[in-house]
Amino acid sequence: MEKKLKVANIGMKFGMCHVEGAMSYGAEITALCDSNEENLRFAGERYNIPEEKRYTDYNDIIDADIDIVTVAIPDQQHKKVSCDFLRAGKNVLCEKPLALTREDINEIVKAADESDGKFMVGQICRFTPAFEKAKEIVESGTIGEIYFIESEYAHDYMKLCDDWRSDPKRHGVIGGGCHAIDLIRWIAGDPQEVFAYGTHKLLPMVDYDDATIAIMKFGEDVAGKVFVSTGCKRDYTMRTCIYGTKGTLICDNTSPAMTLFTVDEEGVTKEPEIIEVEVNNHNAAREFEVFADAIINDKPVATDAREGAKTVAVCLAIVESAATGKPVKPDYEF
Ligand SMILES: NC(=O)c1ccc[n+]([C@@H]2O[C@H](COP(=O)([O-])OP(=O)(O)OC[C@H]3O[C@@H](n4cnc5c(N)ncnc54)[C@H](O)[C@@H]3O)[C@@H](O)[C@H]2O)c1
Repeated sequence: MEKKLKVANIGMKFGMCHVEGAMSYGAEITALCDSNEENLRFAGERYNIPEEKRYTDYNDIIDADIDIVTVAIPDQQHKKVSCDFLRAGKNVLCEKPLALTREDINEIVKAADESDGKFMVGQICRFTPAFEKAKEIVESGTIGEIYFIESEYAHDYMKLCDDWRSDPKRHGVIGGGCHAIDLIRWIAGDPQEVFAYGTHKLLPMVDYDDATIAIMKFGEDVAGKVFVSTGCKRDYTMRTCIYGTKGTLICDNTSPAMTLFTVDEEGVTKEPEIIEVEVNNHNAAREFEVFADAIINDKPVATDAREGAKTVAVCLAIVESAATGKPVKPDYEF
């Protein structure tokens, strides 16, 4: 490591993953911030960060000597906080989804374009070992050309439905489904059109659909499907199947085994190969390392603001299609 990076972490619930990611990289934690004093104290004690480095108001550290700011606060606030730090020239790693509305994603893209700092949206599934391996296998040509890809985000939010998650703007397709949508975009490219149906039988505390099924058309003879259920009665899964002309790959963020089918010389399916992978669906250490590398070596960031915006654009198209009963083309102009 050429330089000890100075890091400020905002939001001390899921955001503690970012503290751990930064610490495992060897960065210096210069500030922890949470508007809730108890959450701040808990994290400060847990990571041994002295009281003078703990803040309840992020405005107090906007002009501080900081290389990277991580933002893990309710999605509705991503825009304001990220833009404030970008305008101060800081490098910002913000949690997914980039934002919840077209207006907010446009504003973050603009602030990132105009900033001297870099911006990364934390699409953490791109660092999940099984999905990294899947991307590598697809790119090696082992399963031929993709003709169909499906993924899902099935997670029980019965105990996770606090006020900001119950906001209709924070539809499950955007808040959680963005993981599955970003994953299939990363592997198969941008869907050109989506069509969706929604149902609402599971989460009585929300006014939006808690299950959505979306089918989609990609360019060049490729189709896809995403299922999102935020009240499902099962353990968390992002089971993903990638169907190619020469093989099929089945993987999950919560399974230690991937299944790879390939064909013999006559094109007939062989016995599957089981590939063991580490289960690590919140690989914040790798995510931080990639962002730090981009900053230190002035490289582009793969999940920059536009990339995060494209994922939200697909989510918004799915929500619109389910509401209108019509196919919708995602708008990728930012
Ligand atoms: N990548 C993932 O797999 C993953 C998992 C969970 C959450 N998330 C994302 O992380 C973000 C936070 O989610 P969470 O589960 O930690 O939410 P949470 O509601 O459990 O915690 C949010 C924390 O942020 C603090 N906070 C709120 N507003 C603040 C502000 N203006 N300044 C400082 N602190 C503030 C709250 O006090 C709280 O401690 C969300 O964007 C969520 O979508 C991502």
